[in-house]
Amino acid sequence: MAQSDRDGFTSAFGVLVATLGSAVGLGNIWKFPSLTGANGGAGFLLLYLASTVLVGLPVMIVETMLGRTARANAVTSFETVAPDGQWWWKGIGWMGFAASLFILAFYSEVAGWVYAYIFKAMSGEIATVDPKVAGRAFDGLVSDPVGSLTWQWVVLVLCGGIIMFGVSKGIEAVTRKLVPLLFILLLVLCGRSLTLPGATQGLAFLFSPDFSKITPVVIMTALGLAFFKLSLGMGTMLTYGSYFPDDQNIPATTTRVMLADLSVSLLAGIAIFPAVFAFGFEPAAGPSLVFMIIPAVFTSMPGGTVFMTIFFLLTAIASIGAMLSLLEVPVAVLCERYGMKRGTASLCTILAIALLGLPAALSHSAAAHLTLFGLNAFDLYDFLSSNVLMPVGGILICLFVGWVYGLPELERHLSNNGDLRNRPLIRGVFLLVRYIAPLSIAVILLNGLKLL
Ligand code: PHE
Repeated sequence: MAQSDRDGFTSAFGVLVATLGSAVGLGNIWKFPSLTGANGGAGFLLLYLASTVLVGLPVMIVETMLGRTARANAVTSFETVAPDGQWWWKGIGWMGFAASLFILAFYSEVAGWVYAYIFKAMSGEIATVDPKVAGRAFDGLVSDPVGSLTWQWVVLVLCGGIIMFGVSKGIEAVTRKLVPLLFILLLVLCGRSLTLPGATQGLAFLFSPDFSKITPVVIMTALGLAFFKLSLGMGTMLTYGSYFPDDQNIPATTTRVMLADLSVSLLAGIAIFPAVFAFGFEPAAGPSLVFMIIPAVFTSMPGGTVFMTIFFLLTAIASIGAMLSLLEVPVAVLCERYGMKRGTASLCTILAIALLGLPAALSHSAAAHLTLFGLNAFDLYDFLSSNVLMPVGGILICLFVGWVYGLPELERHLSNNGDLRNRPLIRGVFLLVRYIAPLSIAVILLNGLKLL
């Protein structure tokens, strides 16, 4: 389909904020600090950095390129770019379709907690630096089935409402305003956290590595986080790539997004770990960490209630950018392959997620006993998507580009038909996606899943 017939991003800035809006989300503010805390700090951070640069970035570049070349949804794109007869490649797109629903099913729940915290912050209920009080407030929220479900549905209705408006009027218009605001607020928060007594201990935890904590599972988790953070291996970047203008410099844009996303995660880490140690919290507290630390940091500063409210508001907003990009994967497939209207496709997707999300929302209350491999629905969806579906999608995309698509086509599309002088860079990307990335993902995954 010609570019002009489809909706798409309208400017280079729009591309940058929408893509960054997809990358930046609860992954930075909720997942990154809790995983870094639970997996020993700086050693994990180094593994995460290596995975992001050596595997994440090259996958992001080629995935986006495939989308822009095919100008279609995740499934149809593989049909378009694969050689005749090789229909199986579109399986990658369908895997992404499934992964996006699984991610949304638990992501919308965490976003729901954030929304609830906006009101808790306003009411002063969570204005405490006492780990016990903070813990009780969080447990009270997640173990309440009605509250959990209601908040999840609020989030789904809101995001469904925006996605209906399409790419330029929905996604681009919303993310333009939100991404810059989030940066400013994180800086304020870091300033406060760094001036707390005990801040150096937190920084040491984040920046001086202790390699004794590193196990195959920790390495797999770091790689999974790199995929989750950059929204890779499941069709989001491919679908967004299909909305990029023809003259967008893909390697430059994706590198910027990667760096900005990394900065947000590091800022979140710097805001959180000094406070963890200053107030005597447990760095390995897991998913609840952020919901206890952030109130503590704000409570201890002047104007805390206002800043705390704004912070949760912005986190809620950041989660919207990510969720819109997740929703766009199934919505685009339903519209383009089944001729559905955008409104109908959005509604069907939201309903499917609400259903799939039910056991996740109730996994700390009514459905806590429903477990598979020892994981409740919430943890299972997270594990399955981040540690299995996304990395496997990544391997397959690499194998496709490295062994089927080939260097000449890659050069043509990543240099915008020769307009950009970036040949050595493209060759580097090609080597990474042909050999290094698929091999390392496979070894890490097999080791982490104890299959090797
Ligand atoms: N990157 C998002 C985050 O960090 C999550 C996400 C994953 C978004 C996959 C889209 C696709 O919060």
